[in-house]
Amino acid sequence: MSEAKVFVPPIKIQGIKTKIVPLIKENVLLTKDTVWVEPFMGSGVVGFNVAPHRAVFADKNPYIIDFYNGIRSGDITSGRTKSFLEKEGELLSRNDDAYYYEVRERFNKYHDPLDFLFLNRSCFNGMVRFNKDHIFNVPYGHKPNRFSKAYITKITNQIAHIEDLLKINDWSFVCQSFEETIKMADKNSFVYCDPPYIGRHVDYYDSWDENFELLLKNMLVGSDVKFMLSTWDHNDYRKNKYIDAVWGFCGKITKEHFYHVGAKEKNRNNMTEALLINYDIAGNEKHIVHNDEQLSLLTYN
Ligand SMILES: C[S@@+](CC[C@H](N)C(=O)[O-])C[C@H]1O[C@@H](n2cnc3c(N)ncnc32)[C@H](O)[C@@H]1O
Repeated sequence: MSEAKVFVPPIKIQGIKTKIVPLIKENVLLTKDTVWVEPFMGSGVVGFNVAPHRAVFADKNPYIIDFYNGIRSGDITSGRTKSFLEKEGELLSRNDDAYYYEVRERFNKYHDPLDFLFLNRSCFNGMVRFNKDHIFNVPYGHKPNRFSKAYITKITNQIAHIEDLLKINDWSFVCQSFEETIKMADKNSFVYCDPPYIGRHVDYYDSWDENFELLLKNMLVGSDVKFMLSTWDHNDYRKNKYIDAVWGFCGKITKEHFYHVGAKEKNRNNMTEALLINYDIAGNEKHIVHNDEQLSLLTYN
């Protein structure tokens, strides 16, 4: 599947896996009875594109979960979102940053899922970040005309697509820590984990550290599930030491990916992402994925 066909969900988040969805889809192991379990759903881009019939999507961030439960209950619809964004977008274009910060304050008081969407789509870089008191603190993205007609249509189409998926699939959304979610999994489950990248950006809703990484590994190993875990492998300067130390028993699929910080060529950075799996693919053989991007060797340890 080409990247162009990946469905991008309405809520964005740093570390969103849009670019590696095709590689993930190629390497997951599902049957028609599999229950997809995703303890760190974030934007949900992975599960929404794998689109299994049965799934449990979970995250520690209650606002992501409230948002999707709002769509599930019919409280948030594409039509209601359109009117909301038209009205709020107009106020933003008139009052610029003062209005962004007004909505941010309102959200931190009342936690309306549509305010969360508004902030997510007008804040700096589509980030989701909270301080230690769980106050959303991402600054304004400085685009007063953010909610153009075309942009609102794009967002409402994204919501309409989720509405369609919820009609045909049996999906639930739960706010809980990964330990609880992994406990819900059994041998019919496929668990896809995308925790905050250890040793890198860990600011989401709660922090992430070595103890969590070890607990995650122990819980996955202690349960009878097939799993895939996303993490970072290395960049030009550093290697993720936890891959060998914690996840050395897993098969590893890697993909190199370039990103820019600013416009200059010298700021082009290289990051290799890893998918770690506890099952056999392609007959336990060394496996090479070819496409026109910089995909690297897959090794089964
Ligand atoms: C790297 S992001 C997931 C990105 C997602 N795969 C995507 O493509 O959009 C990590 C997510 O883990 C959540 N998270 C952090 N600590 C958690 C915990 N202890 N239990 C469950 N979720 C947690 C964060 O709120 C965040 O949404």
